[in-house]
Amino acid sequence: MAEPHDDAPRHPSPGPARAHEGPHDAGHPAYPVGLRLAGRRVVVIGGGQVAQRRLPALIAAGADIVLVSPSATPSVEAMATAGELRWERRRYAEGDLADAWYALVATGDAAANAAASAEAERGRTWCVRSDDAEAATAWTPATGRDEGVTVAVLAGRDARHRDPRRSAAIRDAVLEGLRDGTIGAAREQATDDGAAPTGPVPVALVGGGPGDPDLITVRGRRLLAAADVVIADRLGPRDLLDELPPHVEVIDAAKIPYGRAMAQDAINAALVEHARAGKAVVRLKGGDPFVFGRGMEEAQALAEAGIPCTVVPGISSTISVPGAAGIPVTHRGVAHEFTVVSGHVAPGDARSLVDWAALARLTGTLVVLMGVDKIGAIAAALIGHGKDPATPVALVQEGTTAAQRRVDATLATVGATARAEAVRPPAVIVIGDVVAVGKG
Ligand SMILES: C[S@@+](CC[C@H](N)C(=O)[O-])C[C@H]1O[C@@H](n2cnc3c(N)ncnc32)[C@H](O)[C@@H]1O
Repeated sequence: MAEPHDDAPRHPSPGPARAHEGPHDAGHPAYPVGLRLAGRRVVVIGGGQVAQRRLPALIAAGADIVLVSPSATPSVEAMATAGELRWERRRYAEGDLADAWYALVATGDAAANAAASAEAERGRTWCVRSDDAEAATAWTPATGRDEGVTVAVLAGRDARHRDPRRSAAIRDAVLEGLRDGTIGAAREQATDDGAAPTGPVPVALVGGGPGDPDLITVRGRRLLAAADVVIADRLGPRDLLDELPPHVEVIDAAKIPYGRAMAQDAINAALVEHARAGKAVVRLKGGDPFVFGRGMEEAQALAEAGIPCTVVPGISSTISVPGAAGIPVTHRGVAHEFTVVSGHVAPGDARSLVDWAALARLTGTLVVLMGVDKIGAIAAALIGHGKDPATPVALVQEGTTAAQRRVDATLATVGATARAEAVRPPAVIVIGDVVAVGKG
């Protein structure tokens, strides 16, 4: 990602000497500083793309922002409507920067930019200028944030040699390193009063996504990189376990559907035991921890043991696996709702909490997890309660992985088709007209 063009011109055409040229033009590097703008006036001249990109960080910094511009992009307008800045709908006029601590000048009018930047210079207001980096008294670095760390990069020796692309590339590399743990700066451990923290490290219940290792969240990946012990399910991004350094203890929770399972009690006990031993424990789960994931049971077990826990949401297979197979769970004019159901107990089973009669009446999409074995009975129940037997159905097995496959059927045929095609768990079953949408 390149920096936007407010920092871009590196070789502005030579023009008449600027009234404000001074020692800062002598090829010196910029002096980096962190501005604390909360409650302080920042004036932005111009409401176009440059302002749109810069404003969110100024808003996040708590600046008292005045935007002067006859027009604005819809996003900038939305910021004004939301009360995040004050918008004066007019062109720049002398005196606009009077009370500003900092200014961003970014109109499409070179004369207005020059006049505003000259006013800033006279008033000793640090000023970023979109059309002429050399004339500016401040430059916007390529920035990014990660866990309380702000990375800001200005690459190049001086205005003429500034290299925004390099700045952005270095910024991205540093952030990536921080996020995946390859830049292992010690995290701040002390509390506000300087004391070392006490008590066990929080256990992280991490949603790993549906299986593709790229589909875990940034936070999940970072916690995994810092783990001493990982307790992993069979589902989820197993490939990520290969990347863990040898000292990391990986415990296989292997909840194979209908097969041998490490009892939930044993998983809970392992979480507690390793956390008490002072280890950084990650419980890596498939999809999202709170969608048929027993995540809350684990959080409760940890709470009972007095161990803090942090829950990191994950991309659930519920939506992502149909999507990976080209099926949108909603589609305009086709489905205005989708319902997610567990199919692990058959309709009619006394343990079932699902109202299949009500589901049969819905016009939207039905997404069934853990339903491969029972799909014949589920389809029969839906048809029995009035659902059209011709309703399209897709079974998507091992979605988002190299082994992904999709098998299509109708409600009338799906039981036999699933058997004939030997569809196996894990699979997400999608029932509804959305199945046909992507097929053209
Ligand atoms: C115990 S549930 C866990 C769901 C998980 N917490 C989530 O949010 O995706 C397991 C079921 O999720 C579905 N599932 C999970 N990952 C899948 C994948 N990659 N492909 C197909 N189905 C998947 C299957 O229906 C499987 O039986």
